[in-house]
Amino acid sequence: MVSTTREFSKETGSIVDLYKSVRARTMRIVSPLEIEDYVIQTADFMSPPRWHIGHTSWFFETLLQAHQPGYKVYSKDYLFYFNSYYEGFGARIERPKRGTKSRPTVRATVAYRNHVDEQMLRFLESLHNLPNAETVLALVRLGLEHEMQHQELLVYDIKHLLCDQFDAAIQPAPSSIVKVEGMAEIEGGLMWLGFGSSGGNPTAGGSSSNYDFAFDNEKPAHQVFLQDFAIDKALVSNGEFLEFMHDGGYQNFRWWFSEGWETVNREQWRAPLYWELHDGQWMIRDFSGLHKAETQADYPVSHVSFYEASAFAKWVGKRLPTEAEWERAACYDSRRSTVNAFPWGDHSPDIGEANLFENGLWSVAPIGAFPKGANADGCQQMIGDVWEWTTSDYVPYPGFKSEFDEYNDKWFVNQKVLRGGSFATPQLHIRSTYRNFFHAHERWMVSGFRCASDA
Ligand SMILES: [Fe+2]
Repeated sequence: MVSTTREFSKETGSIVDLYKSVRARTMRIVSPLEIEDYVIQTADFMSPPRWHIGHTSWFFETLLQAHQPGYKVYSKDYLFYFNSYYEGFGARIERPKRGTKSRPTVRATVAYRNHVDEQMLRFLESLHNLPNAETVLALVRLGLEHEMQHQELLVYDIKHLLCDQFDAAIQPAPSSIVKVEGMAEIEGGLMWLGFGSSGGNPTAGGSSSNYDFAFDNEKPAHQVFLQDFAIDKALVSNGEFLEFMHDGGYQNFRWWFSEGWETVNREQWRAPLYWELHDGQWMIRDFSGLHKAETQADYPVSHVSFYEASAFAKWVGKRLPTEAEWERAACYDSRRSTVNAFPWGDHSPDIGEANLFENGLWSVAPIGAFPKGANADGCQQMIGDVWEWTTSDYVPYPGFKSEFDEYNDKWFVNQKVLRGGSFATPQLHIRSTYRNFFHAHERWMVSGFRCASDA
């Protein structure tokens, strides 16, 4: 809520700073790319880097079109090429064809981006004159959260495009500090799920600035009932996943959902994405090179689909958690009977608590590398490292109201919820209430899991 002019200018001041830093980070991510890298599309599901830097600018241009009096569209062609999936904003190029065009060139796209930045910064300076300034401010913040989502997608897409040929400035990997074993037993009962406070009962948030914003799909907070349950303290590791593979996990129908088994056979899956078999030895390729899977046995497994995560869980005699169970484990402090913003408490993540984009690892960290980020029951790495598959369908919460057409609301079918963020998620962008979503077969994103079981 903005109540006075002074508070409002404080808010616009911080949004200008945030605008500049978020926009600059996108360009830092792509800066090691060569010009040829920007326009190649290596699969239907990925987008060329040139498209991301234009599309995130297109998002702000639609805002200028709607709210900056007299704003002139930069180029009709760009509106067509850089729209993603928004029917309401007119015709657009089909997603699999984003890599079939060499125009607009990278240079022209960067010029477009600079133009939008100039216009946006001027617009933000005069924002307080607008009668609907608060609404517009919320849209600017949405645009910046949208851009942070694309920063993460850029990491996935650059990995698919170049992997270890990309010259990322990778920080040294931390080592495992503690051994993490077993399951945490969590008491069930009525709990508040989602963002915000409701009925006078505050849910996660606290003083963390990560909770100054939330997507509409995280709202409203509502009560759900949970049975007692247990949840793994650690993410499932490459070593454990190798055991599943060596036990013939990919060859045995009994662990798989029918759709998963069809996918395994159709796609000839024998391992997670980015695993390669060299002379009978499984190797994992990441941004830093090719590694023997055995030397990364204590790292969380990543780039697995919902099907693979579910098959492993069944093989090991467990199941995946629901999103409510995951959020309960992430936020509830059983020692103090309080609900926290994050597993470690109410403050925003820093590099000592979670492996997020700012850590600069460009990779998962070993299990046990972030004991400071554990919850009260000893669950580790719930935030960062890998997005965790849950068994929950991505559907609206009861009482859901769309806050922006076609952003989240049109995807409420046939997708699964993932929680917790990954090493490619910017620190400010993550919340314990954040609901990411992908199709069950997808695995080019940084996805992993931990298992749960009934108490
Ligand atoms: Fe987008």
